[in-house]
Amino acid sequence: MSHDTPTDAAGANSSAVTLTLDPAFTVGPVRRRTFGSFVEHLGRCVYTGIHDPEHESADEHGFRGDVVELTRELGVSTVRYPGGNFVSGYRWEDGIGPKDQRPTRLDLAWHSSDPNLVGVDEFMQWVRKAGVEPMMAVNLGTRGIQEALDLLEYCNVPGGTYYSDLRRANGHEEPYRITMWCLGNEMDGPWQIGHKTAEEYARLATETARAMRMIDPSIELVVCGSSSSSMPTFGAWEATVLEESYEFVDYISAHAYYFEEDGDLGSFLASAVDMDHFIESVTAAADYVRAAGKHTKRINISFDEWNVWYQKRAESVPPTGDDWPVAPVLLEDRYNVADAVVVGNLLVSLLRNTDRVHAASLAQLVNVIAPIMTEPGGRSWKQTIFHPFAQASEHAVGDVLRVGIEAPTYPTARFGEVPLVDAVATRDPETGAVSLFVVNRSTDGSTGVTVDLSALRHAAGGADVDVVEALTLSNPDHTWAATADDSTSVLPQDNSTAKVVDGVLTVDLPAVSWTMVRLG
Ligand code: AHR
Repeated sequence: MSHDTPTDAAGANSSAVTLTLDPAFTVGPVRRRTFGSFVEHLGRCVYTGIHDPEHESADEHGFRGDVVELTRELGVSTVRYPGGNFVSGYRWEDGIGPKDQRPTRLDLAWHSSDPNLVGVDEFMQWVRKAGVEPMMAVNLGTRGIQEALDLLEYCNVPGGTYYSDLRRANGHEEPYRITMWCLGNEMDGPWQIGHKTAEEYARLATETARAMRMIDPSIELVVCGSSSSSMPTFGAWEATVLEESYEFVDYISAHAYYFEEDGDLGSFLASAVDMDHFIESVTAAADYVRAAGKHTKRINISFDEWNVWYQKRAESVPPTGDDWPVAPVLLEDRYNVADAVVVGNLLVSLLRNTDRVHAASLAQLVNVIAPIMTEPGGRSWKQTIFHPFAQASEHAVGDVLRVGIEAPTYPTARFGEVPLVDAVATRDPETGAVSLFVVNRSTDGSTGVTVDLSALRHAAGGADVDVVEALTLSNPDHTWAATADDSTSVLPQDNSTAKVVDGVLTVDLPAVSWTMVRLG
């Protein structure tokens, strides 16, 4: 990255950054569902990830206690399940009833075998243990309306019908009453089993949604949007799908994965520019359909797959030929400090768009492009990306404030000139507590940041605003990545440069860093 900003003797970028925090810049509430994640039957996410009966911490259902604890510490709200590409070939009935009678099936999406030892009932047991909200996807690839209705009946109808009584016979008396449902997965992608044109998908999704609401009008439905903003059908897909389904759905999905391509760290660190653009474009498409169709309600976004993912690396290539393994090592990306800074910046983007992004899922939760890693039957540890997510989930409270940013820019190959620093803040209107989340995209020295707090002081009736906590994640070597043997030598550290003097906060942000400053 050509971060050619001049540096002073201490190495800090002398062209300082000014941020403005003002409660009047409220975008909308912090939504707990922004901090969702995703568990797919893929690689070792389920088997030896959340489920590992041989593990010393496993409960009577085979769920690892250490992973549950880490999931809670991560602060996950919703968990999307069971896919992903997997869902487009999934027969949910294979995963219920006595385990010794469940079939092992081919999983075409990931060229694997699934023994179906975990299905909807086990997932709901895990959901309760982890204290998260389920988000269930139905198969609209190889299947259709009837199978989606059967699954909904199994999950949400109290009893007295075939599938609800089957659930009860399987030992689950109470209905699960799952609220969030995804109408298939990435149906715009030619890699998807049962891939469809926008018109084909629009018809199927609309009729599935209409029928599902006949069973349970209280459900919230996510219709598939584009699987990335680079899809040739991006924009048009959203418009076509929503023109048909608008009145029957609540959200349109968005999926985005980023990685450092060809050593272009500058563009990679600015990935949130693409996420902002993605959200803005989907919002525009949804609002166009709203206007043209004379609808009153708004369709909001479920950004239900997002993360850093090195898709071109060997660990993302599924097996081939006659090799159909159970739970192979797949998509086990090791995340470094720069990856964590990008993940933090993507969270900044999701939060600042809280007026239209009403749910999001970090893809995925365990082992597969994940913040949590496990060894089969062994240790578990946190990847670098765990930290910004956990901090934001815990401390983003109240309202989201758009932050005024005056910062020097640097040129990127992918996005043109982008600001050196990006930030968002939240403010709890009850306590006045503020959390500022800020990333420094500079690779060549720390950046001095000045934050104007006068509006915050005014809102606090003139009371002093002071630093409660300032934590920074960075490392002189931004390629440092956690391993099972060492997951703690690079952690968020106290940033002692954060000070409030005369109502102005100053803080130095090291190169390639994520920082949370809490003010009280
Ligand atoms: O999260 C990994 C995969 O990425 C999902 O299965 C699919 O929906 C997306 O392409």
